[in-house]
Amino acid sequence: MMKYVEKKGKVFWPTAKAKEIGLAGQDVYKRAGEDRIKFWEELARTGVDWIEPWHTAYEQKGLKFGWFLGGKLNLCYNAVDRHLDKPDQTAVIFVPESPDEKVQRISYSELFKQVNQAAGLLQKKGVKKGDVVAIYLPMIPEALVFMLACARIGAIHSVVFSAFSADALRTRIKDGGAKVLVTANYYFRKGKKINLLEQANESCRGIEIQKIVVDRAKRGRMFEKAEEVIVKPVEMDAEDAAFILYTSGTTGKPKGVMHAVGGYAVQAYWSCRDVFNLKENESMWCTADVGWITGHTYACYGPLLTGATTLIFEGLPNYPEPDRYLEVIDKEKVNVFYTAPTALRMFALDGTEHTKKYNLDSLKILGSVGEPIDEATWMWFFKNIGKSRCPVIDTYWQTETGSAVICALPGIGPFIPTYAGKPFPGIEYKIVDDNLRKVKPGKKGMLVQVPPFAPGLMRGVWKNEKRYIKYFKKGVYLAEDNAFEKGGNLRVLGRADDIIKVAGHRMSTAEIENAIAGLKGVAEAAVVSKADKLRGEVPVAFVKAKRSLTEEEVIARVVKMIGPIAKPAEVYFVEDIPKTRSGKMMRRILKALIAGEEVTNTSTLVNPGSVGEIERLVRGKV
Ligand code: WTA
Repeated sequence: MMKYVEKKGKVFWPTAKAKEIGLAGQDVYKRAGEDRIKFWEELARTGVDWIEPWHTAYEQKGLKFGWFLGGKLNLCYNAVDRHLDKPDQTAVIFVPESPDEKVQRISYSELFKQVNQAAGLLQKKGVKKGDVVAIYLPMIPEALVFMLACARIGAIHSVVFSAFSADALRTRIKDGGAKVLVTANYYFRKGKKINLLEQANESCRGIEIQKIVVDRAKRGRMFEKAEEVIVKPVEMDAEDAAFILYTSGTTGKPKGVMHAVGGYAVQAYWSCRDVFNLKENESMWCTADVGWITGHTYACYGPLLTGATTLIFEGLPNYPEPDRYLEVIDKEKVNVFYTAPTALRMFALDGTEHTKKYNLDSLKILGSVGEPIDEATWMWFFKNIGKSRCPVIDTYWQTETGSAVICALPGIGPFIPTYAGKPFPGIEYKIVDDNLRKVKPGKKGMLVQVPPFAPGLMRGVWKNEKRYIKYFKKGVYLAEDNAFEKGGNLRVLGRADDIIKVAGHRMSTAEIENAIAGLKGVAEAAVVSKADKLRGEVPVAFVKAKRSLTEEEVIARVVKMIGPIAKPAEVYFVEDIPKTRSGKMMRRILKALIAGEEVTNTSTLVNPGSVGEIERLVRGKV
């Protein structure tokens, strides 16, 4: 059986064979380093089909930058039409939640048909280039079909995670100004039908918006009986908006991160090809939902741009049996398996009981994303799923970066547990102190991207220029992550702001606070993260109430306003929340108390007594 890695000391390197088949080429960093703009131009020319070439590769004015200016292309054409020379190749494998429901294979020619039908339907609803379409769908083929249909007609999709609540959807529909909402009647979760339409309807109350409802029973075959329609891909400027995706920031309001067609297409294509060594006849299973950026880039656009096969799965990886994910990999002969550390930690709880039963020999590459991966989980993944044959590629990136930006490349390595690795060729990151001075190797600092910014980096925040500007300081892009560097490889430690990662899902503590503060009888709420063995981090809420409230009421409120993923793991009712004289809630102190750390220096507090009270409460609960 093919071995792609070998161990040298504590570090893993690609084998000679892996080097040979590595798509990126051994000289890629060197080539990129010579002239980053020229390098991206070369990638853009060879990776993407353009209707018209660009006249200017990169331009930056202040914080506004653009790539491939004057270039014209269509993202959907690149993901679908250009593969029609191999019409029968499977583009999408859809695995329903129930193992009793048939797996569906959609070829590129079939995908082409469906996307055209969907594009026609959107046009019928009056959707034009530049209009926003909200997509609130479970992981069924139509999620990809409608995303691609939007891209085809130049509409801007705004995909909202189907486990977000009606209120969360409503906020995103309103901010985006969506003209149409695409949703489904239901989907399956642990064998139960979840009524999605009810939530979708609730979210639109009083808003003028048209709806397209996919019937889950007909999933993947929605357009079977419809008359055939062909919609010409709309010519898009490289800098036109491809999509917006709402993500959490430090304020309570989610922000619509905007990506540009040209830069996104180039980076999604090349990162998918080179990070996962994905070839046309191979398949990739990215377990992320399309409601998150990972699902956008590696369940939809990346694999399709490269002409490979993407596997999407409706269910949970451990349902109905804990080895469901292994069964799917085995049965569908998955080549690239890309998931989050939380899922891996969950699988690892079963030890090797299940993994021993499968040889998983179709696998070539393993990927991890969304949160820092600890060494034990990395090794478990490597040994038991990868059978010590496949590299674990720890990919660091963000909604804002559009695709993986820091990771090792499979034919180059090294693969070091807990280290993401080097910036993707053509992208430059630095680790700096508060004054933006480079810190010494091994020293923790802030992770920043320096210009020329990557083609795939966000171009704006939807209708919020002020928020966009906040991403930059003295001309560098602030990732808001802490990291350090050793031997040229970067280790990302986690967020430097109030964003938390709950099971890899990005949440804002401020958003949860806002939800709780809106509950009748709540005077104030503070939310901080607490380390969790399984989920990485979980939110913990401190509530100052004016009436007697129960933990259940607080949790129900969060579920209603955001969704079950944001549920506080613990709720404390407190007399007072520690604050500075200027009224700032001291989340740092709450965080320390929850972590069982000693709290010193409370002299800046106006209410130092609150600390002792909370300490007693927290201890009491433990
Ligand atoms: C974190 C997900 C460590 C990081 C693609 C980042 C990671 C945030 C890694 C973005 C990784 C993502 N190692 N941390 N490999 N990947 N993160 O926008 O804190 O949902 O800022 O994008 O996830 O989360 P987002």
